[in-house]
Amino acid sequence: MSSTDNRPIGVFDSGIGGLTVVDAIQKQLPQEAIIYYGDTAHLPYGDKSADAIRYYSLKISKFLIDKGCKMVVIACNSASTAAYHVLTDFFSSDTLFVNVVDPLVKFAGQQQYSKVGIIATKATIASKVYEQRLKEQSMKLDVVSLATPLFVPMIEEGFYNDKLSHNIIDNYLSDDRFKDIDALILACTHYPLIRRQIYEYFDGQVDVIDSTKPTVDIIRQELERNDLLSGDDHLPTHQFIVSDVSPTFEETTKIFLNRNINLTQESIW
Ligand code: DGL
Repeated sequence: MSSTDNRPIGVFDSGIGGLTVVDAIQKQLPQEAIIYYGDTAHLPYGDKSADAIRYYSLKISKFLIDKGCKMVVIACNSASTAAYHVLTDFFSSDTLFVNVVDPLVKFAGQQQYSKVGIIATKATIASKVYEQRLKEQSMKLDVVSLATPLFVPMIEEGFYNDKLSHNIIDNYLSDDRFKDIDALILACTHYPLIRRQIYEYFDGQVDVIDSTKPTVDIIRQELERNDLLSGDDHLPTHQFIVSDVSPTFEETTKIFLNRNINLTQESIW
């Protein structure tokens, strides 16, 4: 007989973006408690060096492990590309790690695409991880990518689904390299907040895919495989923590998760 484990799942990102993953976890695994850490003091991660992102990720993971998390979800592409292997090296005996890159690459590779575009932060694009991993799955796949660094500050400041976001989206996506793509990969967890606008930009002719659903599928699989799912009757409480006060974060969290949240600030530096 399988046992249950009601300890929380830790989820972290530089800011609001990881909430797209939280939202998906809460819809598909409503019995799971979540401790979310938004590292707003160091936002954006996408402009930082891989070493800096690794350092932040190590500190945050230690914090979440000390809070008793049975799993840590790196709900940030910049941190997943820069820090996943370091985190598993350091903490594999303490907790399970799930990143957001592997599930999305796997999902994209299972589709019949000829040409895909990738948009992400500068750090994720510079790592070339998506391009390499997609090519490993299919040599014939044409992959084009573009860093879109304005999207994260734009979304963090609450500009989405408005004229400003529309103009910036238009400016980036009119780039010639995106001609004839079958799919656009949103390789940043902030971008699902502008997914609809991106979909409309392409008149619904391009698949716009992100890591939320594929990542939660892997989270479920990993919890099941390790006998770590919470009990069906568990009524979870969630914690939302930031490293620096952010009124926009609080506001967006409420709009996005559709309820009041109790936001606390805890500096771990
Ligand atoms: N949401 C994050 C990502 O997926 C980080 C964005 C940032 O802070 O630059 O890359």
